[in-house]
Amino acid sequence: MTDAVRIVEVGPRDGLQNEKTLVPAAAKIELIDRLSATGLRSVEATSFVSPRWVPQLADAAEVYVGIAKRPGVRYPVLVPNEQGYERARAVGVDEIAVFTAASEAFNLRNINASIEASLQRFAPVIARAQADGVAVRGYVSTVLGCPYQGDVPLADVVRVAKALHAMGCYEISLGDTIGIGTPSKAAAMLRAVAEEVPMAALAVHFHDTYGQALANLLACLDAGVRVVDAAVSGTGGCPYAKGASGNVATEDVAYMLQGMGFDTGIDLDALSDTGRWLSRLLGRETGSKVTRARGDA
Ligand code: HMG
Ligand code: MG
Repeated sequence: MTDAVRIVEVGPRDGLQNEKTLVPAAAKIELIDRLSATGLRSVEATSFVSPRWVPQLADAAEVYVGIAKRPGVRYPVLVPNEQGYERARAVGVDEIAVFTAASEAFNLRNINASIEASLQRFAPVIARAQADGVAVRGYVSTVLGCPYQGDVPLADVVRVAKALHAMGCYEISLGDTIGIGTPSKAAAMLRAVAEEVPMAALAVHFHDTYGQALANLLACLDAGVRVVDAAVSGTGGCPYAKGASGNVATEDVAYMLQGMGFDTGIDLDALSDTGRWLSRLLGRETGSKVTRARGDA
């Protein structure tokens, strides 16, 4: 296999949003700048959500303004509503991500809206983005299970992904928010969505709570996906998803992809250095097995 896989680095957003201790804006900026220097082409920078809901990212505007925008690198940000869109645009954001879920129970806790209400909320955001030339990515959470509702019917995942795509999202990221899926289930979910949304417009987003993320990822690569979300050092978790833990570590994904002959464009040494730097900053061991195995550089 020699084709390319694009990794969407979500560490500065998903990785940090659940951190209890506030990380200073300057450190967030340094993290993003270090990540963009590793060859990553998409670095999700922050969220323009309610600071009362996610205090850690209350400094979204300061962080976005402070990053050294590297040519060719995209810096999407999460936007939940028009208020978030306006805050993001005020600092020049040119790519956003809207987010909803396939489970009603999770959505109510995460964004205080039903699935239908969330889609209605996104409609004016997406219309404004299109008029402004702003790219829109879409997330569907709880695609392999919900911490509140349990099983999530495949038909709901397909319906929500299809709706976001029809509304104008150029890419739909399918999130296993609580890392509960297993490989054949993950691939079956992806294939079902790909019957309604082109595979080229799909991404996968695995949390590693049950240690299944790399296996799920491999099954989805076999099924044809070529865009993968990951967080440096395996950071991450959603404050409104009980039991959610870190994302699959970007270092581990890059190592696996490179070992399989995929082109990722990533300098693994620089990425591992960044992972080590971040885990020192957060005061705990890295969640990346690759970075651990490679020891101190
Ligand atoms: P709400 O309380 O229903 O909102 O929250 P509201 O419109 O009633 O407003 C309430 C207050 O929030 C008002 O302030 C608004 O001004 C303010 P007050 O008048 O009371 O002082 N407000 C805002 N302030 C700044 N920016 C905004 C904004 N919007 C309202 N954009 C809302 C609804 C959606 C805002 C809230 O639920 C929210 O922000 N939720 C975000 C939760 C979140 O960020 N979760 C994590 C990201 S999703 C995730 O991690 C999953 C993913 O990784 C994929 C996966 O793993 O599955 C993507
Ligand atoms: Mg996530």
